[in-house]
Amino acid sequence: MVDTTCYLNGEFLPLSEARISPLDRGFLYSDGVYEVIPVYSRFPFRMDEHLRRLQISLDGIRLPHPYSNEEWKAIILRLIADAPFEDQTLYFQVTRGADARRDPCFPKGVKPTVFLFTAPLVSPTAAQRETGVSAITAEDIRWGRCDLKTVSLLANVLMRQMAADHGHAETVMLRDGYLTEGSSSNIFVVKNGVILAPPQDQRILAGITYDIVLELAIKHGAAHEIRPISEAELRSADELWITSSSKEVLAITTLDGQPVGHGALAGKPGPVTRQMHAWFCTFRENVMRHANG
Ligand code: PDD
Repeated sequence: MVDTTCYLNGEFLPLSEARISPLDRGFLYSDGVYEVIPVYSRFPFRMDEHLRRLQISLDGIRLPHPYSNEEWKAIILRLIADAPFEDQTLYFQVTRGADARRDPCFPKGVKPTVFLFTAPLVSPTAAQRETGVSAITAEDIRWGRCDLKTVSLLANVLMRQMAADHGHAETVMLRDGYLTEGSSSNIFVVKNGVILAPPQDQRILAGITYDIVLELAIKHGAAHEIRPISEAELRSADELWITSSSKEVLAITTLDGQPVGHGALAGKPGPVTRQMHAWFCTFRENVMRHANG
């Protein structure tokens, strides 16, 4: 791994030299939040929207914002400029800091821990694009505030590993008989030519890529509905796709061992998915790879 520059509590230093206390509340209690910004051709995509979502996460866990947006932007731009890759995934995390008392109640006078680093953006392979990926389903056992991007990701980790154990790319979660999201992605359904998306409530993360997909649907006049999606609708979908900052728009072509879709298209990326992916690629090249994308 390339030893890139990272940022930790006011300092820029090599990632291999960054150290945090074992008493950090992020380590002891998962008491922290994070963000991931995709960076194309060294332009951070929708930095303001990511910082807004960070604010929502910080407010949700009652952690005062450590920096102004201008301070965040200066750190982010310096890390991106210093990194030896053009397309990056920029990660940042804020925890409630290190406190020797190990008391669940919020500590007084403790500075939050702020950590940022950037890594190469790993996009789906050409083969995954061509054939789509397989996924499994599971009951969503996470807590009730999945709209907050917290580092308490144990349930997501277990879901993702369950998929990986059997060679699947993602676990699609259901709560009370309705689709929520993937372990690290949002999920879209296509039925009778209509794109269906679950509402952005407390049960899912408000994905930035989810927003782009809906903006593209509106721009190109594609039929879409935002509403709860039942398990029966998920299982009888004509098409399914994943969205996230790294997966972009990626077809799910097998769900729980069954091909997604019907007739000649069963088990293959469908026309609406292909169209949305093409719109996304045009948008990525024409907008995301430029300043103020
Ligand atoms: N995860 N839902 C969950 C649970 C996620 O973890 C993510 C992204 C998304 C999609 O959000 P966005 O489109 O803003 O990337 C939805 C990031 C990539 C991660 O944790 O690494």
